[in-house]
Amino acid sequence: MEIERIYKIPSRSFFLFGPRGVGKSTWIRKRGHFDLAIDLLRQDIFLRLQREATLLEAQTAHLPTGSVVFIDEIQRLPELLNEVHRLMEERKLDFILTGSSARKLKRAGTNLLAGRAHTYKMFPFSLMELGSRFSLDSCLKYGTLPIVLRDMDLAEETLSSYVGTYLREEIKEEALVRRVEEFNRFLAIAGQLNGSVLNFQNVSREAGKSAKTIQSWYQILEETLLGTLLEPYRPGFKTRESGHSKFFWFDAAVARVAAGLSWNDLDNTWKGFAFESMILRELQIYKEISRKSNHLFYYATPGAGEVDFIVETRPKTINHPQEFISIEVKFASKWRRDSEGPSRCLRDVAQKSHKRMIGVYTGTERLTLDSFEVLPLPVFLDELYRGALF
Ligand SMILES: Nc1ncnc2c1ncn2[C@@H]1O[C@H](COP(=O)(O)OP(=O)(O)OP(=O)(O)O)[C@@H](O)[C@H]1O
Ligand SMILES: [Mg+2]
Repeated sequence: MEIERIYKIPSRSFFLFGPRGVGKSTWIRKRGHFDLAIDLLRQDIFLRLQREATLLEAQTAHLPTGSVVFIDEIQRLPELLNEVHRLMEERKLDFILTGSSARKLKRAGTNLLAGRAHTYKMFPFSLMELGSRFSLDSCLKYGTLPIVLRDMDLAEETLSSYVGTYLREEIKEEALVRRVEEFNRFLAIAGQLNGSVLNFQNVSREAGKSAKTIQSWYQILEETLLGTLLEPYRPGFKTRESGHSKFFWFDAAVARVAAGLSWNDLDNTWKGFAFESMILRELQIYKEISRKSNHLFYYATPGAGEVDFIVETRPKTINHPQEFISIEVKFASKWRRDSEGPSRCLRDVAQKSHKRMIGVYTGTERLTLDSFEVLPLPVFLDELYRGALF
């Protein structure tokens, strides 16, 4: 059963990046218009082009101007981008280039075609794409990776081999770290800390590596698209604002496998972090498809807890203060008034800059409580994707 994706195929040349198994190849093959497909995952094709990149010219020589060439797994052969660049210029061909991350392309010193192709990102299924096909509980437990959802009976096995593949193909093959076992231990810690405030010193102690190494490993996770570092919002209202980031995995189930936790005791604390990860991802998917560049943060109040997400709706300029909305996420079907505390604390100091206080929960009733808007998940998603939030 094919699930329709929320993304729109760009009309010109583009890169499409996304972690393994999010459905990049499937989407392009089903929805993309191309005249020639080159799959670098096929060893014979890969080896021939690796030996002789100019072969691409011969392979495309029969195509008229304006034809589209789809190259899958471009990160396997970054040098090919020079040929692509030339064929774009000389033959006016368009290219669809997909890969698991831009990291290797950038490291290889290629210039990502100097702006000739825009970069797009793909994520696991959005709750909007899934509709009512899967329960929220199942999404919180097994995540929403297409490769996992294609057979729910095998979800746990697929997820285990997913993390194994990631270690083998993205980490070992690329020699990103010297000792894969050490990185694997770090993954377990990072998995457990999904969505928590990160203190590199603490992680460093636990992993037995320097804080600098830990920081660079988090960067690898980010560059290979396994997650996002979310910075604290520091508008300077209070001097004691936290300086630590949070790390959110792109899919909470992958974090769970990396952490080596069992599937049986999925407690509410874990579900709460998984729910938060999911909301962050919806914000990121919405940003991606609407091509918005609003910055996302979290906010640590001095002493009154954290506001889960801050979306900057207007950056600070010389004669205008910044503006933002806040989003508090609660995995609870009853809204508790004390959940509003951190947002209200922020409103007290930020006043007019703080445009809306929003809460998302799993309950069914929409409430407005002294200008704090409590939205059931479906209402939140509807407002988000309608563009009513930002
Ligand atoms: N739109 C979809 N609807 C239903 N299932 C899908 C969809 N897209 C992908 N899948 C399932 O997920 C699997 C992985 O998808 P796909 O191979 O397209 O991912 P990918 O992003 O290209 O991964 P990789 O980076 O490993 O190449 C597919 O084999 C298919 O079973
Ligand atoms: Mg693919």
